[in-house]
Amino acid sequence: ETMKNILILPGDYIGPEVMAEAVKVLEVFKAEGEPIAWSFGHLGGAAYEAEGHPYPPSTQQAARAADAILMGAVGGPKYDGLPRAVRPEQGILGIRKDLGLFANLRPALAYEALAAASPLKPELIAGLDVLIVRELTGDIYFGQPRGRRKTADGHDEGYDTMHYSVPEIERIAHVAFQAARKRRRRLCSVDKENVLETSRLWREVMIRVGRDYPDVELTHLYVDNAAMQLIKNPRQFDVIVTGNLFGDILSDEASQLAGSIGMLPSASLDANNKGLYEPIHGSAPDIAGQNKANPLAMILSVGMMFKYSFGRTDLADRIDAAVRKVLQDGKRTGDIAQPGEPVIGTQEMGAAVVDALRTSK
Ligand code: NAD
Ligand code: IPM
Ligand code: MN
Repeated sequence: ETMKNILILPGDYIGPEVMAEAVKVLEVFKAEGEPIAWSFGHLGGAAYEAEGHPYPPSTQQAARAADAILMGAVGGPKYDGLPRAVRPEQGILGIRKDLGLFANLRPALAYEALAAASPLKPELIAGLDVLIVRELTGDIYFGQPRGRRKTADGHDEGYDTMHYSVPEIERIAHVAFQAARKRRRRLCSVDKENVLETSRLWREVMIRVGRDYPDVELTHLYVDNAAMQLIKNPRQFDVIVTGNLFGDILSDEASQLAGSIGMLPSASLDANNKGLYEPIHGSAPDIAGQNKANPLAMILSVGMMFKYSFGRTDLADRIDAAVRKVLQDGKRTGDIAQPGEPVIGTQEMGAAVVDALRTSK
């Protein structure tokens, strides 16, 4: 077996805290003899402080050479005043673009043990299993031109450009249809076709690509309606495919079906399943440094890495099972605890997952 090299980018604020728990999971598998090795690099604010850039050349080289990347989260108030080009967020956008990680998979599951943690009624979310496929290297995030200028009558204005090309839409469409094929064969494409030219093109291409997947049922929703339907009747969805901006927003919304944004992992993949794995949440400055963050999204992201980059569904399944077990055992960080329930810290939650993993070999 060839050694798999993992680059770890802990990031900022709670990023390093949740990453420390993910590393404990790697250590369990390494001790079992799995051929994995890892090294650390800088991304985001930490990279700006250490090397003067949020995605410095050292990280770029290590990222290109790695078999997979784990990332915590970047950004925070300490860095909010920096010029946009060196803000931590440019680090994550930069690495996604540089490595061509165009396909972002964000699964949202309703864990039975967490039914009470969701603000939705338990009967609405029981058994829920939605996969959001978010396009990650296009859209208004990267479209040109963008910037600031003066209007003719002397006001400052800011502008961004929403942009999608046919090849960009085609490749994310194939990812989404193929994912749907492995699931319940229903794909809902979310756009704003009634208003936006990019969305008209998006919908045309989805329909055209859909002809290659007659076994998958393709439907379309406008994004405003989709946001509403996710709350009204989330179980109508199997796979959702959407653009970068809409996918960002809808996946934070979907995290509330699972009970907390601290529960949602993600995979960001290129055309060859090289991937970067990170929770969907941010650096949570409001709870950083207090051993409060929920590390489960980060730990579940490690599971996605084993599944998608290393073909090790067995290890991914063990991580999923360990997470289910600790939840069933009543382990709760603050974000998923009900009033009156005992709360444990980031490190204690990580340790509980490690215990469950060790006994599951
Ligand atoms: P956030 O996701 O960091 O936090 C939103 C809320 O969710 C906060 O109340 C936070 O405490 C809570 N939360 C988030 N993760 C949690 C966890 N694991 N456990 C428990 N509670 C958790 O979003 P924000 O506050 O809008 O952004 C904070 C910073 O993170 C910003 O600088 C933003 O740009 C950055 N950000 C980075 C990423 C990334 O690196 N991928 C993603 C989103 C936001
Ligand atoms: C995410 C984040 C990022 C995004 C930010 C930090 C650039 O919100 O990964 O969801 O918008 O993609
Ligand atoms: Mn986001």
